[in-house]
Amino acid sequence: MNPLITSTRPIHQATRRSSAIVRRSISSTPSSSHPSMSHQELAEGSCPHSDKMHEFRAPQDGDSRSPCPALNTLANHAYLPRDGKNIGVWDLVRALKEGYHLSTMLACLLSFGGVFLLGQIRCMSLVDLARHGLIEHNASLGHDDDVNGAEYAPIKVDKKLLHHVCAEGGKFLPGRLTLHDAARIRVKRESACGPLDGPHAEIARGEIAIAIGILGGKDAAKNGVDIGVFHNWMQHERLPADWKPDHTQGLYQTYKITKYVRDHMKELKAEQPPKETVES
Ligand code: HEM
Repeated sequence: MNPLITSTRPIHQATRRSSAIVRRSISSTPSSSHPSMSHQELAEGSCPHSDKMHEFRAPQDGDSRSPCPALNTLANHAYLPRDGKNIGVWDLVRALKEGYHLSTMLACLLSFGGVFLLGQIRCMSLVDLARHGLIEHNASLGHDDDVNGAEYAPIKVDKKLLHHVCAEGGKFLPGRLTLHDAARIRVKRESACGPLDGPHAEIARGEIAIAIGILGGKDAAKNGVDIGVFHNWMQHERLPADWKPDHTQGLYQTYKITKYVRDHMKELKAEQPPKETVES
């Protein structure tokens, strides 16, 4: 049996894994009044034994985070270990399927592709993803470029840059960031920061296309995503309230939306280069 298909995994196994994540997340900052709970959990009124296991909790000191809003969000909601450490490739696959309803194929492709590019087949921490030039690239939508040849790129979201990027949305459908907008935004970012090499340009297009595909729901290819939802997810690395994916994001569908962004970027570049730039 395929161990990835969580719905067919024995319940006790899933529970053991979930409990392990909760145990790990609460062991670092014990509270004196409730030894098994962190200050943050007490402050936010959450209890690890309740059914709120996947509620949002911001990272604590010492937790590891990446420049990827999707994976940070999964850690903030305990689909990945909340501390962002010791993550194996199957943890990634499982988290992408559980948190965002990715198909098994797409989850495997992204996870195995990611750890392969990183060269960390056994285990990784989220911060490892910030290693510049592996997956991480310049011309990001919410992060400054790697400066002065630093080995690790910035992880903190640049609010000003993200604000500018989101302000570029809504040009085709009011209040929505569509695939059309995404293409324009990527063209502008790459013209402001300098062109990306082929693989990184493809990665950058894929990131925004999948994000729109997941957060925008089943009609995202046509209607895009609500700009506020996208902005909150990028900035706070938090799932929308009452998050419940309405579709499975599959490989073919993702290929199509990424291709759409690529083709539209080509058209835009063939027209005259844009005058304004989206700069931080
Ligand atoms: C549901 C799946 C995923 C989605 C929707 C997603 C989305 C995104 C988005 C939107 C960004 C751009 C952030 C920015 O421009 O500031 C990003 C960045 C990044 N993602 Fe993901 N991601 C996903 C899965 C993964 C996986 C599986 C990995 C690797 C194991 C990964 C690694 C990265 C890295 C290293 C960056 C930084 C790239 C940069 O320099 O901007 N992501 N991701």
